[in-house]
Amino acid sequence: MCGIVGYVGTERSLRVLLGGLKRLEYRGYDSAGVAVIDARSGRLNVAKRAGKLGVLEDELRRHPIGDGATGIGHTRWATHGGPTDRNAHPHLGDDGRLAVIHNGIIENFAALREELDAEGFTFTSETDTEVAAVLLGREYRVAGDLAEAFRRTVARLDGAFTLLAVHQDQPGVVVGARRNSPLVIGLGDGENFLGSDVAAFVEHTRRAVAIGQDQIVVITPTSVRVTDFSGRGVEVEPFEVAWDAAAAEKGGWSSFMAKEIAEEPDAVANTLRGRVSEGRAVIPELTDLDDLLRGIDRITIIACGTAAYAGHVGSYAIEKWARVPVEVELSHEFRYRDPVITPSTLVVSISQSGETMDTLMAVKFARAAGARTLSICNTQGATIPRESDGAVYTHAGPEVAVASTKAFVAQITALYLFGLHLARLRGTLSAREQAANLDELAAIPGKLERVLESSDSIAQLAHWMSDTRAVLFLGRHVGFPIALEGALKLKELAYIHAEGFAAGELKHGPIALIEPGQPVFVVVPSPRGSDEMHKKVVSNIQEIRARGARVLAIAEEGDVSVLPFADEVVRIPLAAPLFEPLLAVIPLQIFAMELATAKGLDVDQPRNLAKSVTVE
Ligand code: G6P
Repeated sequence: MCGIVGYVGTERSLRVLLGGLKRLEYRGYDSAGVAVIDARSGRLNVAKRAGKLGVLEDELRRHPIGDGATGIGHTRWATHGGPTDRNAHPHLGDDGRLAVIHNGIIENFAALREELDAEGFTFTSETDTEVAAVLLGREYRVAGDLAEAFRRTVARLDGAFTLLAVHQDQPGVVVGARRNSPLVIGLGDGENFLGSDVAAFVEHTRRAVAIGQDQIVVITPTSVRVTDFSGRGVEVEPFEVAWDAAAAEKGGWSSFMAKEIAEEPDAVANTLRGRVSEGRAVIPELTDLDDLLRGIDRITIIACGTAAYAGHVGSYAIEKWARVPVEVELSHEFRYRDPVITPSTLVVSISQSGETMDTLMAVKFARAAGARTLSICNTQGATIPRESDGAVYTHAGPEVAVASTKAFVAQITALYLFGLHLARLRGTLSAREQAANLDELAAIPGKLERVLESSDSIAQLAHWMSDTRAVLFLGRHVGFPIALEGALKLKELAYIHAEGFAAGELKHGPIALIEPGQPVFVVVPSPRGSDEMHKKVVSNIQEIRARGARVLAIAEEGDVSVLPFADEVVRIPLAAPLFEPLLAVIPLQIFAMELATAKGLDVDQPRNLAKSVTVE
């Protein structure tokens, strides 16, 4: 939800800002804008345009602005006020001498605006952000110093915000503040950076500092100072970003999504690395928490979107292996239903970005209610792992496409490792069972490579079906969340009505949707798991086929039972039943991507969405 970048140094800042915005565009692409302090005239120059970053870049080519070594840039996902040029960030103070960019929602903006209206200030946009800019201008005239004025301004704001500001009277200074929204510092040599995440500056430096809750940062080319909102200095701890700029590039791929699907074998392999020792799952980050984990009697998994479906898959394995009751809940529902939480409840949050506001707020709520909290996260320096008792990082590498793919399989892998780690602590699996499950996990990357080899036939299927108006997905047991995820992918990317159902639920309603020609994907469970369950799903296929459905089965190699009834069969390699979701989801991801491509849509940046939803 909105990408933010700030720069001070010796270089011209426009190149750095536009490069950073390009990498942050996954956070929103309703408009983009920059403000730089012109090295020649000393004036603040602003350019901003509704639309994707490319529109702003064209504008800057047609009408260049004077550049300088201090600047800020913004890419927006609209909340207050539509995606227009006027509402695009940066917003200026009343005298045009300072500029502010913002990610989040200032909840008391209406009251502040009234206060400023009464003092005769005027506004040019409908945004909450402009209120902060005007307030900052007023405070600057009193304090005469940007950092002090900024401190006074943020102290007046409620809600969630990351704010950056520059003032033309103070070139060489960028100030930033964060409450509930992300902000990371990039430490350079004679230059420093600020960004919503490290992708904003990883091309220039891999040394970073995550700013804590309710903190303010002032950067100059040679200094970084972090304080709390009352001005007290705060010690910071730099970390090294684990990936480089090339990892966040598209390379030769047609889209980030295509690249990220191809990286799924690595995402699983890297998430497993260093966490298996002598046939046992040992997650080093959790060793300090082993006593705590031994004492839990219930697990609640919270997440949103694709991460919630990964949680749903993981819940089957954790419950089976560690014999602890596991429930899965959407973060935003969990928080508002007065759940039963005790000190022996473990709340496991899953988030690729580590910044999803609904999940962050649910984690804080769970902690306040006395639960223990564990974060499964893909982003170093993110807020959710910092707010949790423990964290297990997925090592999927940067995920840029809005629709999550490689993070999903990495999340399931991390949950499975966690389930086996917990089972070891609780003594609920024999050594042989531990080792057998870890062998299954270790074999997944190779099997994923084989699934990817069938990409072309799935692409062809998707292209044939490009005029489809609705698709249904059926699955049972761990195949059920895969059906839900398959439907989500198609909605997100191809804007096609799609629904996932538990196959057993078919006869309780959804079968009424079946009419001649209706495409239905069916995730067929392995006959080597529960024979009974397999037979039931094959019966479901017959039931829908009898009513004219076009059946697209995803079935393991050698399962001939589906052949008489399926119109198309997509094969996946054999795996123990709990591990099938890691393989079965890939054809569905590819199908959605290819169908969207066939419709001429942008698969990396679907309409109305943002990758990291940092507003509630
Ligand atoms: C957004 C994205 C989804 C993602 C969800 C959760 O809705 O569009 O792709 O699954 O947020 O994101 P998280 O970063 O918490 O995993």
